[in-house]
Amino acid sequence: MRSIVLGIGSYLPERMITNDDLAKTVDTSDEWIRERTGITRRHFVAQGEQTSDLGVAAALRAIEDAGIEPASIDLVIVATSTPDNTFPATATAVQRKLGLPIGIAFDVQAVCAGFVYALSVADAMLVTGRARRALVVGAESFSKILDFNDRSTCVLFGDGAGAVVLAATEQPGHVTDRGILATALAADGRQYDHLFVDGGASSTGTIGVLRMNGREVFRHAVQRLAETAIEVVAKAGLRMADIDYLIPHQANRRIIEAVGKRLDIPADQVVVTVDRHANTSAASIPLALDVAVKDGRIKEGDLLVLNAMGGGFTWGAALLRW
Ligand code: UT7
Repeated sequence: MRSIVLGIGSYLPERMITNDDLAKTVDTSDEWIRERTGITRRHFVAQGEQTSDLGVAAALRAIEDAGIEPASIDLVIVATSTPDNTFPATATAVQRKLGLPIGIAFDVQAVCAGFVYALSVADAMLVTGRARRALVVGAESFSKILDFNDRSTCVLFGDGAGAVVLAATEQPGHVTDRGILATALAADGRQYDHLFVDGGASSTGTIGVLRMNGREVFRHAVQRLAETAIEVVAKAGLRMADIDYLIPHQANRRIIEAVGKRLDIPADQVVVTVDRHANTSAASIPLALDVAVKDGRIKEGDLLVLNAMGGGFTWGAALLRW
């Protein structure tokens, strides 16, 4: 059995915030943000718009793209660090808003690596027959956990969602067949303090705001993103030169370029959307993937590596034949 992608969709909230907009209230500049990160704008949720709403909008597009009956989805996984509520899982809110019948639904919390984690968990459940059709969503409202007095973090993030519909299918099992060929996941809790939110249900009883040691995260990100991509390609017995597109987590253009260089993947085979979306955490990979599929770059049969790294630290990659 192999998990193949039947459809993909994404959604950005309407409200678009430029660097200049931020510079009106934050001690920063368009020039600094562009130079250090490559970001020019991001989208923020509207008043009352929740993470599940973003996830549902992306999911509806993915379901339409897949051309399936929504009721055939028996597994919903939402990767998010900004859930609607502490509980129930945002996945159950998505399930309810989509009008889905009884199935398995839960959230995965691996921050920016969340989508790759969720994809890997869904794949494991599909290939072992625990479910037949999965909706995997990455959805975030990071604007709700930013400290707008901290210019070193508040300019970096945005809101949005992306989703894929996966199906368990019987395949001959070759690397030339469509579907998820391999995944790799890892975490290192010793790095917990470099990127975290300073609140939570059992610590402060508040939501908290994002805190980051940017330089330390940058250093680890380049290393982990490269190493996890190498691992996943090796697992399938392939070489980096076989890759058609790298779809890395979108945190900083400089990180993405450094990873592309380390992996020896030409710049035109690395998908970059951080300029338009900023860092949307668990939503960044499906958002970027959707852009590259819809603009015609990624075609059926292409070999893709998705790789991400985030708070925890957590990191991982997925190798898939589109
Ligand atoms: O998904 C994983 C999550 N996060 C990441 O991957 C982010 C990883 N880290 C980064 O992308 C970079 O470290 C940052 C973009 C966060 C920072 O870039 P940097 O080149 O490492 O800058 P820096 O932190 O060394 O700061 C350089 C200067 C400092 O001023 P001084 O001390 O040199 O006078 C900062 O105060 O830039 C200043 N600065 C700013 N200036 C204008 C920091 N943020 C800003 C800002 N606007 N927004």
